[in-house]
Amino acid sequence: MRKIVIAIDGFSGCGKSSTAKQVAKKLGYTYIDSGAMYRATTLHFLNRFTVLTNPKDVDRALKSLEISFHKNEETGLQETYLNGLNVERKIRTMQVSEKVSEVSKIKEVRRELVSQQQRLGKHKGVVMDGRDIGTVVFPSAELKVFMTADLKIRAERRQQELLEKGEMVELEKIIHNLSERDRIDSSRAESPLKKAEDAVEIDTSLLDFEDQVCEITHLAQQKIAAN
Ligand code: DC
Repeated sequence: MRKIVIAIDGFSGCGKSSTAKQVAKKLGYTYIDSGAMYRATTLHFLNRFTVLTNPKDVDRALKSLEISFHKNEETGLQETYLNGLNVERKIRTMQVSEKVSEVSKIKEVRRELVSQQQRLGKHKGVVMDGRDIGTVVFPSAELKVFMTADLKIRAERRQQELLEKGEMVELEKIIHNLSERDRIDSSRAESPLKKAEDAVEIDTSLLDFEDQVCEITHLAQQKIAAN
């Protein structure tokens, strides 16, 4: 059976990653978290005190950036590595969340990460989630999904996730961070977040997690059969 590319885009905190991960598992596909790549780049820049407005500094930082994903044998989950170090927890902190949209706006950053993402997906059989996967990274993806959800519901979900990782953050602060990221991500000049014309839109505000996974898996199976 021929493999396809599944692109899942949408606003921050809609549950794209957890959904994409489950869909990939059901199909036996590889899951690629493109947001983790922008987050790891942000952490790298923070570690190096990179001046975001200085193109030479950004260029130097990009030259010493190496991102990879490795499976944690205990949990079976894929984790993000930056220059050989496991940064999975660090990239999910508020410190990184507060800077990531600024870093993602930089043209050179996008050029580098988009080309890495295209390499990772070139043999197909991938589910990739992000903001520009269906529009820029894989404009000819066989299945494109655009996920949305009510802001307060997204913030409550994100607060719960952070709590499970031991970080207690006020709901107001998360609402502010999500709406700021949505604003910057949607209005930037370089590949802004927008729904691809041929994407299927799914509002997950009131959807049960299992139902959204089933819906996307079903759509994917139809595309695979027709491919
Ligand atoms: O999916 P996430 O919330 O972990 O992504 C973090 C940030 O990375 C998000 O605010 C915008 C940026 N991003 C992007 O610009 N393009 C992508 N394909 C994925 C993420």
